[in-house]
Amino acid sequence: MKFEAIAVCLFGVESTVSYELKNLGFTVTNVSDGRVTFETDAKGIATANISLRCAERILVKLGEFQARTFDELFENVKKLPLEKYIPVDANFPVAKAKSINSKLFSVSDIQAITKKAAVERLKSVYKTEWFCETGEKHPIHVFINKDIVQVTIDTTGPALHKRGYRQLSGGAPIRETIAAFMVMLTPWNESKLLVDPMCGSGTIAIEAAMIGANIMPGINRNFQGEELSFISKSDWMIARKEAIEKENHKEFKIYAYDIDPEMVKLAKSNAQIAGVDHLIDFMKSDATKFHSSNEYGFIITNPPYGERMGEKEEVYELYKQLGKAFKHLPTWSIYVISSLENVEELFGKKAMKKRKLYNGMLKSHYYQFPGPKPPKVQN
Ligand SMILES: C[S@@+](CC[C@H](N)C(=O)[O-])C[C@H]1O[C@@H](n2cnc3c(N)ncnc32)[C@H](O)[C@@H]1O
Repeated sequence: MKFEAIAVCLFGVESTVSYELKNLGFTVTNVSDGRVTFETDAKGIATANISLRCAERILVKLGEFQARTFDELFENVKKLPLEKYIPVDANFPVAKAKSINSKLFSVSDIQAITKKAAVERLKSVYKTEWFCETGEKHPIHVFINKDIVQVTIDTTGPALHKRGYRQLSGGAPIRETIAAFMVMLTPWNESKLLVDPMCGSGTIAIEAAMIGANIMPGINRNFQGEELSFISKSDWMIARKEAIEKENHKEFKIYAYDIDPEMVKLAKSNAQIAGVDHLIDFMKSDATKFHSSNEYGFIITNPPYGERMGEKEEVYELYKQLGKAFKHLPTWSIYVISSLENVEELFGKKAMKKRKLYNGMLKSHYYQFPGPKPPKVQN
């Protein structure tokens, strides 16, 4: 069976999700704000869930139509071939609805009408008046944008950034999907030096280690899609096997530091859970004193934002000190995510690129200061 699927992602990350999908061999058919549509078969849905580093969720599209009234919503949902996806005993809640710039905006009413229409459709197809809903869960999601309704089934469950390794998180951890995105946007690979001098719970270093070792981010977790009737157990088994076969056993090291010894301990423990602790050296260290005898290297980091009252001055001073330390690394490539708007001013350096993105709900910028390319080694 062929499906149209949607990889949902944070705003600003769409092009990287699209790149990831194409690399996995999928055909991408549409890219819009926070949504990348692609064609797939059932195994592909499993592969996308297991392998995508920057997406938050994979939905299977059941249909798309225009609706400006609840009558239109009801009639159009009733026309969808829901029985192709939802078996007679399935539990099919309309688990989520979202509406932007549309006539229909009451989320609870959108959910109720969609459910009523789905029941009507399935009643007539299955020739029954009542559904026990004791079978596997098939969660329906509805998304309305400018009166265009997409009705989908969720195949992910807990969002994809929940890899499972961050049992413990301290301070202000960055989303795993954003950390992966930060690394993927740079030309870093496992043969190059990488340091996160303010690693917190270790997310950037852990995601980079998984990228370097080609460990798929979802390999150690389960997905809603494992309950769905239209994706078989063997689809999941084959997708997992193929994902494991892609892992490499290259030896490389990433360096992750933090000034807070408790954070260093936490990051180490998270890396152990992720199975990449052998690829990362953790140490307590002050980022403002960072120096290196290596001519080339990458710093990818997420300094404190100072969101709380009274912290701003202290944080500005920290960024100024970091700027000074980075001046001693003129050939290094430096990448910084921050919700501060004035990072370039504080660093005393103009970013080559400044990209807006959302770390969860927090509007941030990804400041990119790439250094010169190292000369090619002659054999
Ligand atoms: C926003 S958090 C990093 C969160 C991290 N990306 C994660 O996912 O958990 C900033 C971190 O910088 C650390 N930090 C603050 N000042 C520092 C300094 N001078 N040197 C090293 N680390 C510092 C804090 O202890 C904190 O863990």
